[in-house]
Amino acid sequence: MLVEKNVPLQALNTFHIVARAHGLVRVRSEADVLAVLADPDWAAAPKFVLGGGSNLVLTGDVKPLVLKVEVQGRRVVGETAKAVIVEAGAGEDWHDFVAWTLAQGLPGLENMALIPGTVGASPVQNIGAYGVELQDRFESLDAIDLVTGKLLTLNAAQCAFGYRDSIFKHGGTAPTLGLKERALILRVRFALPKAWKPVLGYADLDKKQAQTGCDHPTAQQIFDWVCEIRRAKLPDPAVIGNAGSFFKNPTVTAEQCADIIARDPKVVHYRLDDGRFKLAAGWLIDACGWRGKTVGQAGVYEKQALVLVNLGSGAGGATGGEVMTLAGAIQTSVYERFGLRLETEPVVL
Ligand code: EPU
Repeated sequence: MLVEKNVPLQALNTFHIVARAHGLVRVRSEADVLAVLADPDWAAAPKFVLGGGSNLVLTGDVKPLVLKVEVQGRRVVGETAKAVIVEAGAGEDWHDFVAWTLAQGLPGLENMALIPGTVGASPVQNIGAYGVELQDRFESLDAIDLVTGKLLTLNAAQCAFGYRDSIFKHGGTAPTLGLKERALILRVRFALPKAWKPVLGYADLDKKQAQTGCDHPTAQQIFDWVCEIRRAKLPDPAVIGNAGSFFKNPTVTAEQCADIIARDPKVVHYRLDDGRFKLAAGWLIDACGWRGKTVGQAGVYEKQALVLVNLGSGAGGATGGEVMTLAGAIQTSVYERFGLRLETEPVVL
């Protein structure tokens, strides 16, 4: 087992924040994890599981042993009456995997095209976009419990998916056993529907449909639309460092929503099935005048206020401290104006 020492992490986090890992192990198989757990020097050491680094803010060098997941492989593993089951290694790039499924003639993931990150990270925050969430297409996953060394296979119910949430984001002990900082996801399986239907109805997609006059889009057409929409409003992490949406869209009660509408009738809100309302955090931040504002080299993206960006690069780029100071100032300002505390999305280390 090779533990690389003092490893630069700038290229391993999509904010491109400069920091180092004291120790890093590349995990290409289950055996690599078991070797770490069997090693007397590392077995009990705190560990941090790193995927594509696309949902991460580094505020300094990383002391826990970094387990960089690089498990590869994509294949069809079976089928049910309703779905084809496809499996991918946790280290596969998410977008490349989505494109690969379409190339195999297996639609279902197209609305989630171009989300940065790896397949293994996708269940952790139950990624979603344009009307489809990971949980809608999830079948099961294999993970290693870093405490016991046991292999776990979890179905959707066991993953306890919520909006940008899962069991992998919560700690705790039985009966509310969380797997935060405990599970290393090795492989994820997806159930792709045999009777595929396009998921439309999301404002940006409807606009594309109206513009093109395409009544019956194929999955490839939706994939292309989603890529165009995302490229137009979200920064490409290869060019401008960022971690996607920095805050979650808050869910509020009907009373809270009425209070916020009274403060500004233009607030973007959507009624949920349970009678509560989801608010567009990007709109709230924008309404407080944050678009284009900066703290040091950390900034609010000009075209989408929900996304914080690194305006510089390398040693001249944003620090994690600058990003978090900006995030804190945004939270305070939204709270003062709308009486609402925005929750951050990325993991802060
Ligand atoms: N808006 C503004 N100003 C802004 C940003 C947004 O007025 O600066 C308004 C938009 O005009 C729109 C509304 O806010 O009316 C919602 O914006 P948008 O459709 O761009 O989506 P979002 O709610 O900001 C969410 C997800 C994205 C996902 C898109 C599309 C969250 C936290 N974010 O963004 O996910 O791609 O919907 O489904 O749920 C991510 O999680 O990293 C992510 C990018």
